[in-house]
Amino acid sequence: MIDYPGILKEIHTNLKQQNNKGKVATYIKELSTVDVDKFGIHLNLIDGQNYSVGDYETPFSIQSISKVFTLLKAFSILGNDLWKRVDVEPSGNPFNHLSLLELENGIPRNPLINSGAIVIADILVSQLDNPKQDFLNFIKHITNDDSIHYDESTARSERETGFKNYAAANLLKSFNNLNNPVEDVLDFYFHQCSIKMTCKQLANAFHLFANHGICQQNIVHSTPSQIKRINAIMLTCGFYDEAGEFAFEVGLPGKSGVGGGIAALLPNKFTITTWSPGLNKKGNSLLGMQALEQFTTKTGLSVF
Ligand code: DON
Repeated sequence: MIDYPGILKEIHTNLKQQNNKGKVATYIKELSTVDVDKFGIHLNLIDGQNYSVGDYETPFSIQSISKVFTLLKAFSILGNDLWKRVDVEPSGNPFNHLSLLELENGIPRNPLINSGAIVIADILVSQLDNPKQDFLNFIKHITNDDSIHYDESTARSERETGFKNYAAANLLKSFNNLNNPVEDVLDFYFHQCSIKMTCKQLANAFHLFANHGICQQNIVHSTPSQIKRINAIMLTCGFYDEAGEFAFEVGLPGKSGVGGGIAALLPNKFTITTWSPGLNKKGNSLLGMQALEQFTTKTGLSVF
């Protein structure tokens, strides 16, 4: 019998005392003013038990974690045609890196780096009737929580500072891998990054990745095969140029965001989310990665 609450409490207490908590993202004011001492963890077991510790009910900017939700939506609409426009290889580069995109003729390495997520955003702008509203409704549905919203101020700041994202979108356009106007696609992308969720909400939303595409409301959103592929992409590409390190240390499919959130899962067993806004040099939550390493080590639960 694993003592989940005891393990979570021990990890949280120990890491909270650590002096080096990393540095909060500074490129926009909405992220730079977040308290570096915030730290929450939420664990959902697939059988319905859940445990949490710390700031697990404080909403934070999910940022790039949104990329797995847009991927799920686009994959469930387009099926394997999706892979004509984006590849599934780790990039080994930072999330906003551009030179590979040009070298590889406008086909992004994977859907979890910025250029790949911008292609996915383009697909959803084409396929959804009211793209931003429909996508937000989807997030609310899989979380079973109507209170989730876009943070307009964050979305505006993303646009004002998003020069590399404009560069990526224009490069994609020049290679005919963007069907809609750059401005429309990036408006969608900046909004998806601005969504605020708590650790608890994110762990609930991630349930379908641990449960073959079926959400907590028992609705099927995706096929088991598509979920297998998305989880594989999370494992190999979910942490940019630190994906190898995350697989090595933690051994779970997961996704990080520069807001300091990490969501991870073990198929058929659990989803777990952490939030600590201080980032390491690669842009992943410093305490979050350590917490998940300790969790999979202490419980002996990982995909390996
Ligand atoms: O696109 C951007 O630059 C930001 N919204 C950052 C997204 C993000 O979280 C990347 N990484 N972890």
